[in-house]
Amino acid sequence: MKIAVVGLGYVGLPLSLQFARSCVSVMGLDVDAKKVQLLNNGQSYIKHIEASAIAELVGSGKFSASTEFSRIKEVEAVIICVPTPLTKNREPDISFVLETGRTIAPYLSKGALVILESTTYPGTTDTDLRAVLEAGSGMKAGLDFHLAFSPEREDPANRESNIKSIPKVVGGYTLACLDRATALYGKAIEKLVPVSSCRVAEATKLLENIFRSVNIALVNELKLVYAAMGIDIWEVIEAASTKPFGFTPFYPGPGLGGHCIPIDPFYLTWKAREYGQHTRFIELAGEINTRMPEHVVHRVADALNVQGKAVKGSRILVLGIAYKPDVDDERESPSYALMNLLSECGAEVQYYDPYVPVIKLTREHSQWAGKKSVQWDCATIESFDLALIATNHSCVNYQELADWARSIVDTRNAMSGIHVRPSKVWKA
Ligand SMILES: NC(=O)c1ccc[n+]([C@@H]2O[C@H](COP(=O)([O-])OP(=O)(O)OC[C@H]3O[C@@H](n4cnc5c(N)ncnc54)[C@H](O)[C@@H]3O)[C@@H](O)[C@H]2O)c1
Repeated sequence: MKIAVVGLGYVGLPLSLQFARSCVSVMGLDVDAKKVQLLNNGQSYIKHIEASAIAELVGSGKFSASTEFSRIKEVEAVIICVPTPLTKNREPDISFVLETGRTIAPYLSKGALVILESTTYPGTTDTDLRAVLEAGSGMKAGLDFHLAFSPEREDPANRESNIKSIPKVVGGYTLACLDRATALYGKAIEKLVPVSSCRVAEATKLLENIFRSVNIALVNELKLVYAAMGIDIWEVIEAASTKPFGFTPFYPGPGLGGHCIPIDPFYLTWKAREYGQHTRFIELAGEINTRMPEHVVHRVADALNVQGKAVKGSRILVLGIAYKPDVDDERESPSYALMNLLSECGAEVQYYDPYVPVIKLTREHSQWAGKKSVQWDCATIESFDLALIATNHSCVNYQELADWARSIVDTRNAMSGIHVRPSKVWKA
């Protein structure tokens, strides 16, 4: 069997490799010719995906990459994993999905299966995507070709988690579409969770991400409330986590990051308006979480104040650009919000992140493009007035940080258990 995976990013690439390992021939399609070339040369551009795994599957002929979308006519199934960001006005931008639909439609063979994996609002697959596929192919979904939605569940940097053993939710446009989609995923994924429609599958993914966003906002708010009472939220969460039922720990931080949690909930907010519904939990969580960087900057100002310094003119080192520990993904990272706020206040801001040696050019943070991570050594670290832990990569030596830094603001509880003068560390 031969399939195509469109969009070879954090979702599409591991999925392609998993199918290829499961003896399905995979053609990866991407608009980025550089990525395609790297992959065909057996190289990786994602830290947690080993180049050797790619090289082996390319070598065995099970996986190849291409920019030639007309090759869709060679495959029985197409899985779409392209980005679904928000526009500048924080509304869903499904243009990548629709563009992909328009591009592949003329090449779809009769009986082909199209599955969308990009996170989106309910109705995208059976309305928006279906319309462009039908218009471009002259065929009818459910009759001439099959259509389904199956959300991705990725836990980057979690070595225990692998795509094969993560249960996969699948919804079809018709029952026959669902059967085709589960038969395909069944080749590569151990446990499937069929649901009654594409919309239920789309809504499931949004619930999962909204659940995280709301619970993170809750602990972020409690962090402020408890701090005012002299209580450490981290100790409270650790204690509450001993409850064997009915409690799931979530941890506070400097704000939300990554491609999912800060974005996906607002897909539902936008769609809900069409039905006269309001998503108050989502809005409130967004409000609390996006205020976190300001809170952190206040703590930085407090810590500098004790040294008799102002933020203006101080040298501040931000530790961690990636949005979560042990990954190289810095999309939507709150570190950028922190660096912007601090430099607006007149601080000289540098960063250290072994996984982001240099900041790539993006539309959102073009002012930081080309900036390089500082070196990790005593002379460099002690040359800063303050170190701000934004992301707690496990490869960082926090004892050295404790020994070398003049003052530390810790948004991740990374200094817990490290020998350090208590007044040197400010939790934020
Ligand atoms: N990253 C995650 O952990 C994660 C988890 C679950 C769901 N998702 C969802 O999966 C989708 C993809 O996310 P990602 O993290 O893989 O994004 P990504 O940016 O890492 O990858 C997207 C890829 O699509 C390519 N692309 C863009 N437009 C294209 C087009 N028109 N045709 C072909 N290729 C195109 C890009 O070049 C890129 O390689 C999004 O909807 C996201 O919300 C992501």
